[in-house]
Amino acid sequence: MKRIFSGVQPTGNLHLGNYLGAIRNWVRLQDEYECIFCVVDMHAITVWQDPAELRANTREVTAAMIAAGVDSERNIIFNQSQVSAHAELAWIFNCVARLGWLNRMTQFKEKAGKDRERASVGLYAYPNLMAADILAYKATHVPVGEDQKQHLELCRDIAAKFNHDFGAEVFPIVEPLIFGEATRVMSLRDGMKKMSKSDPSEASRISMTDDTDAIARKIRKAKTDPEPLPDDMAGLRERPEAANLVGIYAALNDSTVEQVLGEFGGKGFGQFKPALADLAVDKLAPIQDETRRLMAEPEFVDGILRKGAEKARDISAPIMAEVQEVVGFLRA
Ligand code: AMP
Ligand code: TRP
Repeated sequence: MKRIFSGVQPTGNLHLGNYLGAIRNWVRLQDEYECIFCVVDMHAITVWQDPAELRANTREVTAAMIAAGVDSERNIIFNQSQVSAHAELAWIFNCVARLGWLNRMTQFKEKAGKDRERASVGLYAYPNLMAADILAYKATHVPVGEDQKQHLELCRDIAAKFNHDFGAEVFPIVEPLIFGEATRVMSLRDGMKKMSKSDPSEASRISMTDDTDAIARKIRKAKTDPEPLPDDMAGLRERPEAANLVGIYAALNDSTVEQVLGEFGGKGFGQFKPALADLAVDKLAPIQDETRRLMAEPEFVDGILRKGAEKARDISAPIMAEVQEVVGFLRA
């Protein structure tokens, strides 16, 4: 049986990268697989979060997921901290993963910055908690953006080492699902940097809560080069900003980069940018309206998370019992 698990941090507004790289793919998978989607509030606090904002962001990210089409009846949507299995299994994985493995994680290096001594221990152990998220449900497939690939490789290493050390086939070796035309959406200000919630420049990202004017303005001001768009993919090489905007267009339009270049090849950004802005507004506005509507009903959103957590506990409880048995924890 295939089981999907994926997560998103409630660390601020979702942006176009989260939507095109992850959440939109979740919507596509939910007809085919059993899906568990998690708002990972415990990952969020690996860097400082204002408590009131964390609570508000958890609700907002949940609302945005539902608005984007994730079906909370058929799937499980919950926030991580409501299910204790995540913390329990993460501790066990802290004892399975090796320092050398974690030392290679590029996301830690990026997030910790120069002053590594002052990073939280949680930020360092972040990938172990992520492995616990996935394996507490014995999930087999994990749809994410390109940036999470290394963490999923670590998850595979942890599963293999656990199975090997304890001589039991407890955990599956997960498969990453990284697909679509925008697996790595880049900053609108710098085509070499990924679009991110933590970029200090608001103009670098299209937030899922931006209004029509903001979306149009950010796309109009997006960094580009002076050349017209090329006729084929090869012409996008060495043109990261152009490649990014074309990829975004293709993803939003459910087409391919080739098709977009077929239409816009030879045309300048003066023509392409307004078309992209119209398309983005067209696709994002309904999601934004629905998110706002759901945000006005926090009780409803909380109810979905509560029900999701119950269902998540039902799946993870027998798996945790098996793990505790294998590890040698005495359960009276
Ligand atoms: P995060 O906001 O870091 O919790 O990421 C949630 C999901 O969005 C993960 O699957 C990420 O891989 C994906 N994601 C984040 N930023 C981007 C981006 N710039 N392009 C594509 N996917 C992204
Ligand atoms: N680390 C992921 C991110 O920042 C979020 C995440 C946490 C996740 N746990 C997960 C993604 C489990 C997939 C599966 O994007």
